[in-house]
Amino acid sequence: MAIFSSSTKEIPQEIATVPRHIAVIMDGNGRWAKKRMMPRIFGHKRGVEALRETVRACDALGVGYLTVFAFSNENWRRPQDEVSFLMGLFLKVLSGEITRMHDNNIRLKIIGNREHFSPELIALIDAAEVKTAENTGLTLSIAADYGGRWDVMHATHCLLADHPELSTTFAEEDLTPYLAMAYAPEPDLFIRTGGEQRISNFLLWQLAYTELYFSDMLWPDFDRHALAAAIDWYHGRERRFGRISEQLQSSC
Ligand code: FPP
Repeated sequence: MAIFSSSTKEIPQEIATVPRHIAVIMDGNGRWAKKRMMPRIFGHKRGVEALRETVRACDALGVGYLTVFAFSNENWRRPQDEVSFLMGLFLKVLSGEITRMHDNNIRLKIIGNREHFSPELIALIDAAEVKTAENTGLTLSIAADYGGRWDVMHATHCLLADHPELSTTFAEEDLTPYLAMAYAPEPDLFIRTGGEQRISNFLLWQLAYTELYFSDMLWPDFDRHALAAAIDWYHGRERRFGRISEQLQSSC
């Protein structure tokens, strides 16, 4: 597995013009549907279309990694019928899209706690990951039953199970290989649609030095133009990683 540098330990050597990794909270599906007097699930269906377009656009732009938050640890608290609908939608989307993703050289990863999913969904996730494991194009990671705190706690338990000798002290580098996104560089750009300005327990560890972009657009309306606007905004950011502005100018 490739080892990526940690933004709190090393300054990235080169900041690519196109973000290497984009992380997205796809918020606003319910409101999008409500505005149209439709049930919330209609918004989730349209959300899948927006995701499809975003995957295509990231692939075309040469973004290496796209990570989307589809279902949080806390989303189990939603009404039972919405949770059931979302589980059914994941199953349908995964089974319907996997061949197309594979044909487009996309590597699929699902991050999060799988224990509460149906055996059918778990089997489908496993099969999809195996089928696309060797693909070299965009890595699409779907966070499902995921939470940033779950990730850190889970990684810590796994580390200590493997290395009981580290139970009194361990370093950041010991823990990072056990985190859910150990296979990817930290996100350069985080996008949240839907008008809220919070992280909502997404990738807490990995977003340490990520540029945070918030849009009022509701997720089903998000398209390649909206993605381009977010990337344009990202180009205007000065990524200092703890340094001061003058240090960046002198290193040019
Ligand atoms: C947030 O909008 C959206 C979700 C919790 C679900 C996101 C799921 C999709 C876009 C479907 C993706 C499917 C796959 C297979 C990855 P919200 O419901 O919180 O909207 P609201 O804030 O307007 O209520």
